[in-house]
Amino acid sequence: MNTMDDLGTAPNDPRKSSPAAQRNKAPLLDVLRARLGKGSRILEIASGSGEHIVHFAREMPEHEFIPSDAHPAALASIAAWREVLRREVPDVRLHSPLALEVAQRPWPLKAGSIDAMLCFNMIHISPWQATLDLLEGAARYLTPEGWLLLYGPFSRHGVHQAESNAAFHQSLQARDRRWGVRDLEQEVLPAAHDAGLTLAEIIGMPANNLCLRLSRKN
Ligand SMILES: C[S@@+](CC[C@H](N)C(=O)[O-])C[C@H]1O[C@@H](n2cnc3c(N)ncnc32)[C@H](O)[C@@H]1O
Repeated sequence: MNTMDDLGTAPNDPRKSSPAAQRNKAPLLDVLRARLGKGSRILEIASGSGEHIVHFAREMPEHEFIPSDAHPAALASIAAWREVLRREVPDVRLHSPLALEVAQRPWPLKAGSIDAMLCFNMIHISPWQATLDLLEGAARYLTPEGWLLLYGPFSRHGVHQAESNAAFHQSLQARDRRWGVRDLEQEVLPAAHDAGLTLAEIIGMPANNLCLRLSRKN
């Protein structure tokens, strides 16, 4: 897994490309297609290169998509991929990327205005506080029927789900002690509960990853 600084790019081209995002964008699209309500407004946190949300906007024109990230290089990459898509589909419903660091308050959004919030591959590659900030933001900015979809590797009941996930956890911790694969039952679900979110669904994904769908409590 990469941070923005690691992603490949051609000289003078702001578009970043992540091989992992290219591999998992199709299974993630399937997850969303099966669950999004009609005409949804979707915010992606930590869009990174922007390849996921650009793919979703191209494939699901009935919804509105708002990309975001905290990192200037990510914002430039998302904007550049968006321009490519806009040449192909001028009326695509994909906003310019928002500069959004999950710790900031307020977020540049109206409270209760987001039907679905996506956050892929961020919570293991940021300090735990970023997860808490994300969950608090989800509780505030989702509609009452809205949900947050997390995607990435998780351990379950204190146990890594694959040798490769355990090795990944070690490599993350070696890069930054505050990073690491999070535990679903021992860390994420209790924090989600404290923020006012409930578990709606756990979806198995390729390569020992999971999607976790959390609903706003009504
Ligand atoms: C590994 S990349 C994942 C990118 C993309 N979601 C994907 O799955 O390919 C992690 C992203 O999280 C963003 N990020 C890290 N900490 C953040 C924070 N506190 N607020 C918002 N974005 C953050 C980084 O800038 C980076 O783009």
